[in-house]
Amino acid sequence: MSTLVVVGSQWGDEGKGKVTDYLAQEADVVVRSQGGNNAGHTITFGGEKFALRSIPSGIFNPKIKNVMANGMVINPKQMLEELRGLEARGIKDYQLFVSNRAHIVLPYHEMLDGAYEAFKGDKKIGTTKRGIGPAYEDKASRIGIRIADLVDPELFKATLSQTLTIKNMELKMLGLPELDFDTVYNEYVEYGKQIKKFVTDTSLLLEEEIEKGSKILFEGAQGVMLCIDHGTYPYVTSSSPTGASVPLNAGIAPRYINNVLGICKAYTTRVGEGPFPTELDGDLAHYIRERGHEYGTVTKRPRRVGYLDCVALNYARRVSGINYLALMLFDVLSGLDEIKICYAYELDGKKINTVPATLSELERVKPLYVTMKGWKEDITNVKSFDELPLNAQLYLRKIEELTKTEIVLFSVGPDRLQTIKLKDIF
Ligand code: GDP
Ligand code: IMO
Ligand code: MG
Repeated sequence: MSTLVVVGSQWGDEGKGKVTDYLAQEADVVVRSQGGNNAGHTITFGGEKFALRSIPSGIFNPKIKNVMANGMVINPKQMLEELRGLEARGIKDYQLFVSNRAHIVLPYHEMLDGAYEAFKGDKKIGTTKRGIGPAYEDKASRIGIRIADLVDPELFKATLSQTLTIKNMELKMLGLPELDFDTVYNEYVEYGKQIKKFVTDTSLLLEEEIEKGSKILFEGAQGVMLCIDHGTYPYVTSSSPTGASVPLNAGIAPRYINNVLGICKAYTTRVGEGPFPTELDGDLAHYIRERGHEYGTVTKRPRRVGYLDCVALNYARRVSGINYLALMLFDVLSGLDEIKICYAYELDGKKINTVPATLSELERVKPLYVTMKGWKEDITNVKSFDELPLNAQLYLRKIEELTKTEIVLFSVGPDRLQTIKLKDIF
């Protein structure tokens, strides 16, 4: 048995999809365990580009069992559209298993997500408006509807009728149109029928795979700095994307997690509002944004761009149990005279090495930087560490030194082939 958790170690969009797809070539099972279609995971191979939202990134390989586990919030309509989209592009031979305990996202969740954001005005989170927060809210309030309910017409009728009564009161209070029970029921009961064939107890499935000695890859969504518990609250998502959350969200024992691979860009990006200590603006931000095509996969928003922040990275390493790193989008930094890396923050005249808890402190921190020499060479065709220009090698080694974590893989372009493995950990 071998397990590996792929975790976003920044604010999401680090290249988790690419790494999962790359490592999935050796996997038996790929599991998504939290989040929903707020995620957008881009995968490029054989001249084709795919953007997955809620379907695990092992879907392209017919031998892989793809699991959508209990910790996810699944939008049935979107999930079926995503599958149809894949099928239309020739991905027809796949194995998919959906947890009967995962919660579902319904139209009122998306409406409420939008309404809360509008209400917050300039304090808005900048959510993806996919209803993810309100769906997790219902789960915690114990009025959520689960996949097991959806696929049973009678159970669905009972749970939806109770929940919709409450949700319609909320919608009305917020000045939004109330939803008609029959309309929602009739549409979604149909989706339930289509999803039913995928539904199972995925915790049991994973236990069987573990006993068989399978190789299991857990594909994180979002990133540790967006974690509901450890992120820059309240500018976070509504689940925990950490390695620690995987056993809970997938229904397996913590002792089965062998390694946690933190995926990190060679710089930092963030989409949505909230603190970002190393954020850049002006020409340098523009240079990185355009070279890295830093526009959101889900919402197409331009991503905010900054220098690599090793304080945040070390924080993510600690709270998520990251023991290896993958360095992504390395090619984007070619052409710069110098590149800075943040190694500590200064807060009210004192040097600190961790991420403070409050927004007001985070707004006051000043990043302290080491300045590294840049390199001019195009590195998109590099096949080994030794082929990297010396200054790129030194940049990579500096990150290892500052995070005390080994980089086991680096990436020099979006394609599956533009991946250089330095050490086998799966
Ligand atoms: P995820 O959400 O963590 O899976 O990441 P996204 O797919 O949202 O964003 C990462 C973006 O970077 C995608 O457009 C990828 O195709 C692209 N990408 C991944 N690795 C590299 C790389 O090494 N170099 C370049 N130039 N692009 C990359
Ligand atoms: P992947 O898996 C980047 C951000 C949103 C917003 C905050 C809350 O592709 O890395 P939500 O809709 O979850 O309530 O939004 O979290 N966010 C992401 N940012 N990548 C993601 O996923 C994200 N999922 C959510 O932009 O700031
Ligand atoms: Mg993404």
